[in-house]
Amino acid sequence: MQTNGSDMTVSNLRVNLDRLCWRLDELARIGAIEGGGVCRLALSDEDRRARDLVIQWMHELQLEVTVDQIGNIVGLRKGQEQGRPVMTGSHIDTVATGGCYDGNLGVLAGLEVIATLNDAAITTRRPLAVGVFTNEEGVRFQPDMMGSSVHQGLENLDVALAAADSDGLTLGDELKNIGYSGDIPVGSLSAHCFVELHVEQGPVLETAGIAIGAVESVQGISWTELTISGVANHAGTTPMSHRHDAGLVAAAIAVEVRKIAEDMGGNQVATVGCIELVPNLINVIAREARISVDLRNTDGARLCEAERRLEVFVERISAEEDVEIKARRLARFDPVTFDAALVGRIEKVAGVLDHSIRRMPSGAGHDAQMFAPNCPSAMIFVPSKNGISHNVEEYTSPEEIRAGADILLQVLISQSA
Ligand code: GLV
Ligand code: MN
Ligand code: MN
Repeated sequence: MQTNGSDMTVSNLRVNLDRLCWRLDELARIGAIEGGGVCRLALSDEDRRARDLVIQWMHELQLEVTVDQIGNIVGLRKGQEQGRPVMTGSHIDTVATGGCYDGNLGVLAGLEVIATLNDAAITTRRPLAVGVFTNEEGVRFQPDMMGSSVHQGLENLDVALAAADSDGLTLGDELKNIGYSGDIPVGSLSAHCFVELHVEQGPVLETAGIAIGAVESVQGISWTELTISGVANHAGTTPMSHRHDAGLVAAAIAVEVRKIAEDMGGNQVATVGCIELVPNLINVIAREARISVDLRNTDGARLCEAERRLEVFVERISAEEDVEIKARRLARFDPVTFDAALVGRIEKVAGVLDHSIRRMPSGAGHDAQMFAPNCPSAMIFVPSKNGISHNVEEYTSPEEIRAGADILLQVLISQSA
């Protein structure tokens, strides 16, 4: 580690909270929506403008910027030695009703680490890299965590580029349209390790009054789309015994999904987030319904059990109501365990900086989980007010952000020394 020779020791280095919060505010202006949140769907014009701004900041920080074939942006800071960089980062796409912190914090805290090292004229032994990964949210194109999974060789590039949104536009074409179809082959950068700072997006830390989560695992995720085909008919004239009601079947599946989670208990969660009816008119029995099912569990076998229970119910209700039901798998990720030594390092640094910390699993999917099979990976969580996320009211206070960003800084320094 080379320093500028000042008496400031590296372990006393701290981020500039005002600068980090300023960047968070500036980025949140792009795609701002009523209520203080952000709508910045992957590869939308808002995503392009946010990418442009982050790249401008990366250049101002003297990072070497590359864009790969799936649109991931990487800003690289040279080390004293060449070799695999210590990496951080996250995503800047949001759900349509997103907050200002989900993903954005991880990217901008990464830039703040770089800015802090630049200010102190410190060159780490290993290079450092900040990644901005394409389409983490997976609401416009499925699956989620797409850029990081392609980056880490867990998803095929051509399959990902062919993913289509609900208007039939493909991810590959939309990448070209916004000017982010890069020429760097995916997988050409492998990381020495990966550490991501993220908001918890749940109530655990706030409820326990704890400042930091050392994330030791991410639960498995299963996304399925079910398309139910019934028969449209008159709501007044069709006897109840003569109906093939796609809307009723969608509602029954939604209720069953809740029941599966309640029966199984433990860590099983289950959500029907989308229901679309066709023709969606008050006096017409729905001829078609499309619903999404999101099942998650920290235990892989239990997740398979939830999937099996859903399949059994879908078969039964399809026969009972005489409707056709087609299932399409949108995403499937096994649970992931993070690197014990890196999780321990996060705990140790939090202790030194006098922040309370607890180990915890992540309920949400994250880019870091895609790195876990290939290099030591872990995450730092900071609290979310009222446990709210994917909602314009998502909030983490500046002091909570400071704690997480300082820990990220010191963990990255320790890994790159
Ligand atoms: C991503 O935010 C997910 O966990 O759905
Ligand atoms: Mn996120
Ligand atoms: Mn999210």
